[in-house]
Parts: sequence; C-alpha cells; structure tokens
Amino acid sequence: MDIEKILSEMTLEEKAALVSGEDMWTTKNLSGLGVPPVFMSDGPHGLRKQNKIKGEGKKDYEEYETIEAVCFPTACATASSFDRELMSRIGIDLGKECQAEDVSTILGPAINIKRSPLCGRNFEYISEDPYLTGELSAAYINGVQSQDVGTSLKHFAANSQETERMYADSIIDERTLREIYLAGFEKAVKESSPWTLMASYNRINGEYSSENDWLLNKVLRDEWGYDGVVMSDWGAVSDRIKGIAAGLDLEMPGSRGVNDASIVDAVKTGKLSQEKLDTAVRNILKWIDKFLLHRHEEVFDRDADHEKAVRADEECIVLLKNDEGSLPLNKDEKILIVGGFADNPRFQGGGSSHIECHKIVSALSIKDNYSDNISYIMGFSHDKDEMEEGCLDKLEEAAKKVDKVVVFAGLPDVFESEGYDRQHMRLPDSQNIIIGKLLEVGASVTVVLHNGSPVELPWKDKVHAIVEAYLGGEGVGETVMNVLYGRVNPSGKLAETFPLKLEHNPSYINFPVANHRVVYGEGVFVGYRYYDTKRMDVLFPFGHGLSYTSFEYSNPKVSQRTVNIDQGLSVSVDITNTGDRPGKEVVQLYVRDMTNATNRPIHELKGFDKISLEPGETKTVTFKLDKRSFAWYSVDIGDWYAANGKYVIEIGASSRDIRLEEEIELTGSFQIPPKFDQDVQLGELLDYEPTREFTEKYFAKATTQFSNSDTGELDEMARALLQYMPLRTLRSFGNMDNEMVQGILEMLKNCTR
Ligand code: BGC
Repeated sequence: MDIEKILSEMTLEEKAALVSGEDMWTTKNLSGLGVPPVFMSDGPHGLRKQNKIKGEGKKDYEEYETIEAVCFPTACATASSFDRELMSRIGIDLGKECQAEDVSTILGPAINIKRSPLCGRNFEYISEDPYLTGELSAAYINGVQSQDVGTSLKHFAANSQETERMYADSIIDERTLREIYLAGFEKAVKESSPWTLMASYNRINGEYSSENDWLLNKVLRDEWGYDGVVMSDWGAVSDRIKGIAAGLDLEMPGSRGVNDASIVDAVKTGKLSQEKLDTAVRNILKWIDKFLLHRHEEVFDRDADHEKAVRADEECIVLLKNDEGSLPLNKDEKILIVGGFADNPRFQGGGSSHIECHKIVSALSIKDNYSDNISYIMGFSHDKDEMEEGCLDKLEEAAKKVDKVVVFAGLPDVFESEGYDRQHMRLPDSQNIIIGKLLEVGASVTVVLHNGSPVELPWKDKVHAIVEAYLGGEGVGETVMNVLYGRVNPSGKLAETFPLKLEHNPSYINFPVANHRVVYGEGVFVGYRYYDTKRMDVLFPFGHGLSYTSFEYSNPKVSQRTVNIDQGLSVSVDITNTGDRPGKEVVQLYVRDMTNATNRPIHELKGFDKISLEPGETKTVTFKLDKRSFAWYSVDIGDWYAANGKYVIEIGASSRDIRLEEEIELTGSFQIPPKFDQDVQLGELLDYEPTREFTEKYFAKATTQFSNSDTGELDEMARALLQYMPLRTLRSFGNMDNEMVQGILEMLKNCTR
C-alpha cells in the first residue's frame, strides 16, 4: 500500500469514515482506494470470532454467530506459569488461528493490575505485579505478532474493576500510576510493540482515557515511542473530536455515522486540525497494510490446539498445600470425588472473552483412565450455591469407605464475570458446609479450586491438600487429573497474594466506588507490596507454589558488589532438584531498597525464571538487573530514579520464602535536590550533600546552645529540632528580615554550583 498516496487521494469524508468501525468487528470498506476492511476478534485465550449472519429483521446483537474455537487457559492461569516461553507458544498458536480465520487482530492481552480480589474480570488479567504482567504480556504479544497478526493491549489504563467501569474516575497519583498501573503497559509497548492498543472506558483523574492527551500522546507515544493504532474500548468514546486530538485513532465499534459527521464538521470549522485526523488515518492504514502484506494460509486444527491447551495448562496449575505427601494419589487408593465442577469444570469466565468451545474435558469423564477406584457424589452444583438434597448423610457414609476425598470446588459463573464485581471473597456456602462435614467425619480431604481470583479458605489448615486450577481452559479436567495422579508435577506459582480475608486487602476501604470516584488510596502498596511490607499473615503469598519434588538454592553470586547505575549487574544462583522426580521451579528475584530515599514497598519482583530439572540435576539461573530494577518514579524530577546506597537482592521461591540474600552498593546516581525557595526545610538542606556543610556550620553558629563546641557541628537534638523548620521561619525565630533569608538562599544555591 502506498500510504501517503492513498492519504493524499482521500476525501475528508473518507478519512472521517475510516477512523471508526463499520460494525462490531470490522473497519470500513474503502476498497475503491485499495483499503479493504479488516476483521478483529476478541481473545485473549482463544478466538471469539463473531461472523455476521444476514437475516431479515435481525437486530444488531442477533446478527452474529460465534465460531467454534479452542479455549486456552485464561490469564489468571497462564500468569501462574511464570513462563515467558509458554506465553509466546500460546501467542503463536493463536496467531496461526487468526490467520486461518482471516482475523487481523486479536483483542488482547488484557493486563490491568489486580488491585482487589473482587474485580469481576481478574480472571482475564495477569497479576498484582506490573513486572510479571509486562514480561508475560510482551512474550504473548511477540508470539501472536510473529504470525503477522496484531494484538490489542488493553485496557489502557487504571481500569481495575467492573463497577461503573464505563464512567468511574480513577483518582491516582502519578507515582502510583507510573509504578503500578502503567508499568506493565510500558514494558509490553517497549518490548513487543503491539500493533494496536485499547483505551479503557474509565476516566483517570477527571479525563476519559479515550480523550486523555497526557496518557495517549505524552506518555504512550512521546515517552514510550508507541507508533501503532490506539482504538477505543467498545463504546468508550465520549467526545470524539477531543479523542482524535488526544491520540485516539479508531473508534470501535463506531457510531453509525454520527461521529463521522462531527469530524467532518470539526475539520471544516477548524475545531480539529486536518493534521491530527491525518495522523489517525495514517496509523490505521499502516496497521491494515501490515496485516495484508503478510497474509497467508493457515489451518485451524482444533483437535491439535485442544491438546496444546491441555499441555499449556499443565504449566499453570498451582499446588497450594500438600501435607504429608497426600498428593499425588495412587491408583490403588479408594477415592471419592465430590462437587459439580468435576462433571462441569469451570474453565473460562463470562463476557467478551467467552469462547464457544470445541471440546470440553471434565475430570469425571476421564476418571477411568486414572484408576478403577473412583466414586462420585455431586454434593453441590457447579452453577449455583445449591446443595444436593440429603447429600450430607450420603457423603458421611461414602467418605468412611474411602481413603481420600477430592472436592472439586470453585466459583459458579454468576459469581465473577466481566460487567460486574464480586460481592465478597467467599466460596458458595454450600461448598464450605460440605467440606466442613467431610472434615468432621475424619476424611482426608483434597480441594481442587476453579476460580478466577482469590477466595477465602476457612478450612485451609484442616484439609490435606489444595490444588489451584484457576480457569484453566477447555482441557482443565485432564490437567487436573494428571496433577492429582502425579503424571504431571505441578509447577505453577501464584501471580497474586491470597489474603486471609477480604478486609485485609489494601483497596478494601476504597473499593469499588464512592460518588463515581475510585480513590487509589493505597498508592503503590498493592498486593504483596502491601501485605509483605506490613508483615501480615496471608493465606498464600505471592509467588507461592509447591512441587512433588524439592529444590535447593545455593551459590549466589553478584557480578559486582559496587554497582554503577549505568552499568547494571548480573546475579546468579544454582538450583538443584533434591527430590526423586523431574520438576520445574520458578526462581524469583526481589530487590529491597535500603536507601530510605522515599517510602517504598519492602521488596519488589525484578526477575524470575522457570527451569526444568531432573532429579539430582543442578542448573545456574542468571538474572540481569539495570537501573530500572532499582528505581522508583520521582514526580519531583519527572523520571525514574534510584538513589545511591545499599540494596539487598533477594532470591527465593516466593515473596515470603526468600532463600538467599546479597547486599550491593549502588553508585553513580545523583541526589534529588530540594526546591530552593523560602519554604525549604532545614532538614532537607542538611540531607542534601552539596548544602550539608554550609547548613551545618551556619546553624551550629546560629544555635550555639545546640552545637558541639569542639567540632562546631549541630548536635543530635538540634538537628532533630531544626529539621522541619522552613527557612522562612528564620524571620520569626532568627531575627532575620527578608533580605537576609534571600541572602542565605543565594549562598545555598551557590553551594550547588
Ligand atoms: C471489553 C473489551 C472487549 C470489547 C469487544 C468490551 O466491553 O471491555 O475487552 O475487547 O468489549 O468485545
């Protein structure tokens, strides 16, 4: 496509037409200009391609039928794999499916931060941690796009709840935005250049994302260098003209011509510059062209992809607890399976990511492949909080005749979905009652969980084992059985903390909204950044996950003890499989800032790797750290900043299971200067290297009763008393006039030259 030529030939009306969708899923057809429509499909864990069915008198929403596709594990599950390669493989498979189905762009990944366990869409999101989120989403995007198909990184940004999702105003300070809610997007944009990005529904500090010049033009394009298409979430456009000027290229699904007309009018009346419109058109043409240029045939082999979905899920399941080696089960043990999810697994969530599945495997349907000693009582339903009549007596009797009971528990569909948030963090009462009853009669209980987000587990200490299956895609029944019977050694780790109870979550007092405002009052202390800093007991910490084998961490090495900030460093550690089966370990690296330059979480994840080890085998894992691994966002300097000083590198198996620590000293950075005006506090001047000596001497002289007559330095108490006094108070307490205060300010400024 000769984009500039097409652009020069387009009429204003054609340009206005191209910047919004033709219908729910396609761009406008401008074939006369050599610009055919391209198709988009929801994802991100499978294709929700909706084909148009033509029919007399059909309403819009009835006009589509969804193709049969393969449901891979959802993001809450794949996040637990901590496996970049897996994300990339899934991306490649989905990219191929897109080519086979003529889909230009899959609408994902969705990477909003898991702020509260209650967010109805948590199952679609990756983590409470932005580093993990960025790494995994970049791997997925690179996978999809290697097949010459686009992705749409969504929902940009600060859209971490469903309540009032299309209207609420997220009130967030800039540091929190940058460090927590934008950092995953930043990484994905810089490391994988998604072809498109989706602006979210909500407002951020008063401005809708889809018309937020600061967010789309300044941060995304100018700072991060993004050059793809920005599209709106479906229906997320309020003021279309403002949106184009702010960098929103494509409105989806469109406005039936209403906004096309306003765009034409705005350009004619000078309210919108032709140049801004051309930028949007150019971005869209480049995207369409990229897809058409490498369009090729592919086969969507649904059976083969089903197998891939099962294999993928095997990397994701998290073994949360396993007392006395209760798992894996032995085929000779008598097992009672309880719970509707054994027959009807919950493996995906409701809303726009919902896949019409090709094939669903339940644990019950394949139980005979694992053992002849499995019996089943439903007990409770998979789709509502309902107990089977008279089941408690039946369960008591049956439990006494078996060696172990496996309860397939979880959240029914209606409990969590796109469009609304959860009301509480509990499992359905019927499930807790049944698990309680089984424990009461002395059964050895294993619980398998099917949920998209953490749940409270009141019986956690009493059951023998807990398997977190999350929403593991259409093959989850097979994966769970493989894990239960030891054909697969679990290797997933939690990408989120399970708090003891909802009230412990840091967003609790502000979630979900008050007066249409969502106050992100906990700041950067989200997830483990909060629980770990406060040293709170949790159900299961971030990064936690057990294996049927064991791993030893040894021989930590840092490339330098004194690290220049511009050079970075590498850290390595040896991991040995000390058990008797092959297994995989997710090794995690956290950085603890000891400099006290600002208030920070006790530690933050800055590296991870998943390795596979045979029994007795040792491998060395190496991490590369750079300035960003140590930095926080300073609003004062408008940049990332890492102070000189001491940092501890922690290496461990979870955020609460740190096995090794190494201290390093960072150098080569600078100290953020205080603001030199009459409000500067004396303590700031004493802390700032260039003004320290002058301030100390000057005030030691001025306050002789506090200074050490031998050294002429301020004593400890004087320092403590003076530190919070603004310079201007010398007028009140130091017999100074304005001129003298100004004079001191000048002398202080001189110290910095
Ligand atoms: C969702 C998006 C989705 C779009 C199209 C919106 O309601 O928020 O994630 O891609 O619909 O279905």
